[in-house]
Amino acid sequence: MTLPADIRDLVLFPVIIFNFLFCAGDAHAERESMLYPAGPAAEQIARIWWEMLIVYGIVFVVTMLFVVLALVVRRREHPVLGSRFVFISGIGIPTVILVVMLISSIHSTVEMGKVPADFHIKVQSHHWWFAVSYPDHGIVDANEIHIPVKKVVQFELLSHGVVHSFWVPRLGGKRDMLPDHPTELRLAADKPGVYRGTCTEYCAGPHALMTFRLIAHEPEDFDKWLALQSRPPPVPTDPQLRQGRDVFLQQGCAACHAITGISESDTGPDLTHLGSRITLGAGTVDNTKGNLSGWIANPQSIKPRNMMPPSYLSPNDLHAVVEYLRSLQ
Ligand code: CUA
Repeated sequence: MTLPADIRDLVLFPVIIFNFLFCAGDAHAERESMLYPAGPAAEQIARIWWEMLIVYGIVFVVTMLFVVLALVVRRREHPVLGSRFVFISGIGIPTVILVVMLISSIHSTVEMGKVPADFHIKVQSHHWWFAVSYPDHGIVDANEIHIPVKKVVQFELLSHGVVHSFWVPRLGGKRDMLPDHPTELRLAADKPGVYRGTCTEYCAGPHALMTFRLIAHEPEDFDKWLALQSRPPPVPTDPQLRQGRDVFLQQGCAACHAITGISESDTGPDLTHLGSRITLGAGTVDNTKGNLSGWIANPQSIKPRNMMPPSYLSPNDLHAVVEYLRSLQ
């Protein structure tokens, strides 16, 4: 069930005010709310939410009317409403309502699990970022997930370390990411777009800055993306880019980060196609030249308590490595 946007906005108004007051803004978030579903699983969840809001809202109003009635009606020798009424309205009706809502929720959960998957993606959470791989295509990425629209994607979720949780509010429910115990989640997007995802299990440190972007493409755009990502980055010929690659290899970056063809570590995010990403630091800042320079020089000033140490590069070397990384499309 989808209500008109202005009614949803009316209900959301207090939440929006709260967000403005207490939550950080996000340029890419659009309406990051499960009340704006953009996929079949999220539609089911939003439907349950509206059903519950309406039914329990009516229950609340009726209960309050009886409270008011009890306060204003003068006590009489014989009670206005007998004990039979109390049993029916206090036990019978709530039991029926709760059973109906339970059946509705179970039905939706079963329906969501029935849909066969068209595509597989593996996501592994780390302190405090997401490694993303496409096992059928040999592609490794980080903090960005690309999917074709209207295809059911089966996510295999795993954690390295502590429990994290995977949630794209506009596409479906959340699922915990556990160490040594893979969990699964199926999602699909109805429309192309950028959907914000986040870790929803408190995992200490910069938990609040552990986000990702799910980008849904039209099928032809998705095929282009797959083709681009399947190619290793070209060997740089430009002197500055070559200097940047040498800085990457010689100044310690390669000890944590992989770039296909030149380094292999999976301690930090894979950087093979860093230049094509939207954000840096798992959704913390936009991927701009200035932010990338700032991140390499002092990542703790942008995302405190993340695992990357500062680099002590000369301005010339910093500029070269930034240009090199930005060339990795
Ligand atoms: Cu990872 Cu919270």
